Amino acid sequence: MRNKDRLAVLGAGHVGPVIARLAIAAGYPVAIATSGDPDDIALITELVIPGARPRWAGDAIADADIVVLAIPLHRFAELDPGRLAGKIVVDAMNYWPASDGVLTAFEDGGASSRGSSEIVARRLAGSAVVKALNHIGYHELEDRARPAGAPDRRAAGLAGDDPAAVAAVAELTSRLGYDPVRLGGLRAGRVLQPGGPVFGQVLTLPEFERAVHEEARSLR
Ligand SMILES: NC(=O)c1ccc[n+]([C@@H]2O[C@H](COP(=O)([O-])OP(=O)(O)OC[C@H]3O[C@@H](n4cnc5c(N)ncnc54)[C@H](OP(=O)(O)O)[C@@H]3O)[C@@H](O)[C@H]2O)c1
Repeated sequence: MRNKDRLAVLGAGHVGPVIARLAIAAGYPVAIATSGDPDDIALITELVIPGARPRWAGDAIADADIVVLAIPLHRFAELDPGRLAGKIVVDAMNYWPASDGVLTAFEDGGASSRGSSEIVARRLAGSAVVKALNHIGYHELEDRARPAGAPDRRAAGLAGDDPAAVAAVAELTSRLGYDPVRLGGLRAGRVLQPGGPVFGQVLTLPEFERAVHEEARSLR
């Protein structure tokens, strides 16, 4: 157990607070940040994410072992890769042109030919990027979370190129309330994206494995 992992959740919109709440319930120390002054989210954090510490993003990242990117992809370019170097980075973001607008970097070569997390990882070359927590809507992510062994526990997929980081994020996924499904390298994480077979689905482990099996294998 990596009990000492400290989390920084970047993003206090829809999904960031859910991830933060589940992580606090699981015993992780959690800092949460937006792009702005932590004082601006202090009261709301106290009310809706009790136990989370609002911080400046840079400070939250500096003290974290795992940084969760729960910000819109069109804001990703604001992040300084240098600050994230050496960290495990959970990419919970999705490329959604309807709300992100068309992002040339993520269209490069065709969205279908390269996964968004592969493009994120290329920019965050000093970080161990793991795609995870992106494919379940925030309401369901909170409502369907169950402890390990619960008969109605659901699955959540993850993918990454760094085995130690994948192990840490698999443990995080499990402690948050989902059976972690390790799909392979970041490339295999394309099945978790919008348009993929599990995006927006909250499936049991066998259902999940059936849904991704063939596609993930061909992307390994
Ligand atoms: N909504 C869901 O159900 C869901 C589920 C899984 C994954 N996702 C993915 O998660 C991402 C976020 O979705 P969302 O619906 O939570 O977005 P959202 O409600 O728009 O919230 C975005 C949050 O990110 C913060 N933010 C923006 N730029 C930032 C930066 N540079 N540094 C730190 N914080 C920053 C925003 O605060 P400021 O603007 O004040 O900085 C805001 O708190 C998207 O890529 C989405 O596809 C969403």
